[in-house]
Amino acid sequence: MVGCPGRLVCALPQRTVFGIRLVIANRSVELDQLTWGERTQYHQFATAQRRDAWLRGRAALKMLLHHLGEHLDTTRLSFPHPRLSLTHSGTYAVAAGAAQDRPFGGIGVDLEIHQTIHPEAARFFLTEEERRWFARLQSNLKARELLRLWTVKEAVFKADLNNEGRVLADYRLAVPGASNGAASVTDFCGFRSFHYTSVEFKQGFLSIAIRQDKENAPWSTN
Ligand SMILES: CC(C)(COP(=O)(O)OP(=O)(O)OC[C@H]1O[C@@H](n2cnc3c(N)ncnc32)[C@H](O)[C@@H]1OP(=O)(O)O)[C@@H](O)C(=O)NCCC(=O)NCCS
Repeated sequence: MVGCPGRLVCALPQRTVFGIRLVIANRSVELDQLTWGERTQYHQFATAQRRDAWLRGRAALKMLLHHLGEHLDTTRLSFPHPRLSLTHSGTYAVAAGAAQDRPFGGIGVDLEIHQTIHPEAARFFLTEEERRWFARLQSNLKARELLRLWTVKEAVFKADLNNEGRVLADYRLAVPGASNGAASVTDFCGFRSFHYTSVEFKQGFLSIAIRQDKENAPWSTN
C-alpha cells in the first residue's frame, strides 16, 4: 500500500505540516517499475534488509514525485536535497517534499518506529545544554523524549544542505522540550537556522525540519 497507513501517522502530518507533502509507503516498488539506473543501484546493496528498505523508500519517493508533477527517475536526485527528504523505519518509508516554488533551503524527515535510544547515546547526539535539560527530566519521560530528540536531530541534519562532516551534536535546539521549535548550527559555512515539528504516534515519532532563515515557521511553535 502506498498512501496513509491508518493508525500510523495518518491524520497528523498533512494537517500540521503546511506546504510539505508527505507520502508514506509500507510496500516496495516492483522491480519492473525501476529505471535501468535504479536497478543498478538496487543491485549494489549488500543485504536483503537494505534492499527492501530502499525499495520502500523508492515507492514513497516515486509517489511523492508523481504528486509534485516531477520526473519519477530517482537517480536524478541526491541527498541532502533542497525540497525532498526520505526516511525508512520498520516496514515504512516516508518521503517529504515541497513544490518547486516553495522557498525552503532544505527539508529533512525522520521516522522512528518501535525504537529505543540507549541513554548512553545522548552524549553523541545532544549538546551539553540539551543533556543538562535531559538529565533534569522525570525518569518516566526519558525514553520518550530521547526518541523524539533523536528524530528531531536527524530531521534537522537532513535539512542542512551543508551537512557533510557534521554530526547530530553540532545542531543546537533552542528549546529542547519544544515539539515545534528552532534549531541552529554554526561552522565554517556560517550560521544556519531551521524549524522543526514532531508528531508522536503509537509506535514512535516522525519529525520534519526545514531550513528557513528569514521567514517564520510554517507551523506554530511552542
Ligand atoms: C545519513 C543519515 C541521516 C541517515 O539516517 P538514518 O536514520 O540512518 O536513515 P533514514 O532511513 O532515516 O534515512 C535514510 C535516507 O536519508 C537520505 N540521506 C542519506 N544521506 C543523507 C544526508 N547526508 N543528508 C540528507 N539525507 C540523507 C537518503 O535518502 C536515505 O535513504 P536512501 O538511502 O534509501 O535513499 C544518518 O545515518 C546520519 O548520517 N546521521 C548524522 C550523523 C551522526 O551524527 N551520526 C551519529 C549519531 S550518534
